[in-house]
Amino acid sequence: MSTTTVLFTVFSTLAVMAQGNMLVAPILEPNNVYSQRRICPLPTCKSCPTTEELTQPGIGFALEMGHGTAAIRYHNKTIQPVIQIQGSETYTALMRDLSHTTPQTRFPDDIPTLSGKLAYARARLVRLANKALGRPANAQTAILSEMITQLRAYVEEVLSAGTSMASITHAVISSPDSIRLTAEELGDVLDYLKITNVMAEPDELFAASAAYAGFGHGLCATYIKHCVCDREEDNLPYQRVLHLDFTDEALTTTVKGMKSWKRLGVDGSAIVIELGYKRLDEDEASNDDTSGVLFDKIRDHIRDFTISTGFKITEIMLTGTRVRDQRFKDAVSGALRDLVAEDTMKSLETAIKTQEEPDFVFATAKGAAEVAKRRLEGPVRCVWSDECKKSIDNSEGVKDGDGNMELK
Ligand SMILES: *[C@@H]1O[C@H](CO)[C@@H](O)[C@H](O)[C@H]1NC(C)=O
Repeated sequence: MSTTTVLFTVFSTLAVMAQGNMLVAPILEPNNVYSQRRICPLPTCKSCPTTEELTQPGIGFALEMGHGTAAIRYHNKTIQPVIQIQGSETYTALMRDLSHTTPQTRFPDDIPTLSGKLAYARARLVRLANKALGRPANAQTAILSEMITQLRAYVEEVLSAGTSMASITHAVISSPDSIRLTAEELGDVLDYLKITNVMAEPDELFAASAAYAGFGHGLCATYIKHCVCDREEDNLPYQRVLHLDFTDEALTTTVKGMKSWKRLGVDGSAIVIELGYKRLDEDEASNDDTSGVLFDKIRDHIRDFTISTGFKITEIMLTGTRVRDQRFKDAVSGALRDLVAEDTMKSLETAIKTQEEPDFVFATAKGAAEVAKRRLEGPVRCVWSDECKKSIDNSEGVKDGDGNMELK
């Protein structure tokens, strides 16, 4: 055996031992893991939740291309947008790099060369070593943690509201659909920050699903009972959603069919950095008469993308910091006028008119917060027993600090 082979074997064995996992192809859960129905009824949970556990707020973070947002979902069902934080140069550069990747390219099933395998094994070991030492697992973890740390500070400030400092223990993070940060990648961020990732079934949350939930769609009423919730969501109307996210940094287009927000996988998703709003200034700087050019390109891209998926769109969902720009709205209508039904277009116009700016900017974080709250309150692998009734009944009426009932 050559030295390299010996080294490789040692690395592999170590990595396997350290992780209890196979070396190559260990990380990525295929996108369809959750496509099967769970077996109902679920068994009874072994212990009861405390009232405090049931009533704690859900915290949602959204990692967007050039910024991050946070929202809180209280037990009284109010969802509060908290903060939008501009990404640092490093953050934005990382997201831009990630926009050219998918989980499959970040964690390939098979690495053709031995040196590639070695580098991979080494990166896995360094990750584990860093984690063991309480350091960020890798550069990506460090950059994303910095963003989440800033968002967390504002959420904690809102939650403490002048009283003793609240600290967040749980959260759900959403990421863009074509990047799809994995449970492991976000787990590394949250482990480093000592926050529990409460995302489960499905184990990952991406922007289109999060925003859909953030706008109040695809959500069952009886979420404390997982099997009942599934049946309810199965009876929701099926929508083929075109999700357009327009920010300074990029235009993101996604087509996804959904009844429930839980549906995994998309029909197509693309992030186009060249169509971010900030390109407008660059266009204008280079030529006096190009202000219309960016929006023409946006119109053409939305149109071509939608046609390329081959689906009839039944719902258009807008998110991002720049979607209320009249020129963007015109570009969307221009792109889709003859591709979608008239009432689909009409409900989009109503949404633009009636919704406030924060609804578009925070929809993704709000959805993540809603999902976090649902996972904190309703177990996904068992059902609360009858004996748990007391804490559940107690949680129905939430008392605030002064002992006033806020909700019966
Ligand atoms: C829900 O609770 C939050 C935090 O205590 C509060 O700010 C909000 O006003 C409440 N909403 C309703 C509808 O009572």
